Amino acid sequence: MAQKDKVKWDKKYEQTPTLLEQRDPSKKLVEVLAHVQGNNALDVACGSGKHAIYLAKNSFNVEAMDISSVALKVLDKKGFTNISTKLADLEGFTPAQNSYDLIVKTNYLDRVLIPKLANALRIGGVLFIETYMNHESNEKPNSNPNYLLAKEELKTFFDNHFEILLYEEFDNESYEIYRMKKQAIAVKRSH
Ligand SMILES: C[S@@+](CC[C@H](N)C(=O)[O-])C[C@H]1O[C@@H](n2cnc3c(N)ncnc32)[C@H](O)[C@@H]1O
Repeated sequence: MAQKDKVKWDKKYEQTPTLLEQRDPSKKLVEVLAHVQGNNALDVACGSGKHAIYLAKNSFNVEAMDISSVALKVLDKKGFTNISTKLADLEGFTPAQNSYDLIVKTNYLDRVLIPKLANALRIGGVLFIETYMNHESNEKPNSNPNYLLAKEELKTFFDNHFEILLYEEFDNESYEIYRMKKQAIAVKRSH
């Protein structure tokens, strides 16, 4: 496990517990759910489980992975029997191929992981990604550009084996401290 990432995130959540409060799911994910068939879901970098909980309430069986034991403890305490949490480092992680009906990755960018998540979809499965973009209107100072998407970047990860169900660039949620641009994509594996 990348110990320094674990220490960083555990500390961040301990110092700012509001980050662990339950929030509404992404509006884009809510739109996309109508396109998902089957109930086997993976939420990577789940934090305290904003989306894992939303999916569990919508009858999915969810594997929820994160590097922070502080965040996963909060999720475990909610007691959802259809969420199984896994403390894991996603760097170097490869999920089993052809396994999931829905994979969700929000507010976390690891470009190497994206094609692996695409391969982990069953035929007909949906991958939903939403995270921050590099944009001149962003308010957050000192953001590491490696963790910010370029304009239209999420589209570049998918070939003709995938149908784009949704692609949008938009402003982040009003409860966040800084105004930032975000990008979301949902793709369906067609073959
Ligand atoms: C901004 S939070 C996003 C949480 C959640 N997906 C959401 O949208 O609310 C980023 C999450 O990525 C997790 N994370 C960071 N590096 C990680 C790694 N190498 N492996 C697994 N999780 C990681 C952090 O612990 C944190 O919970």
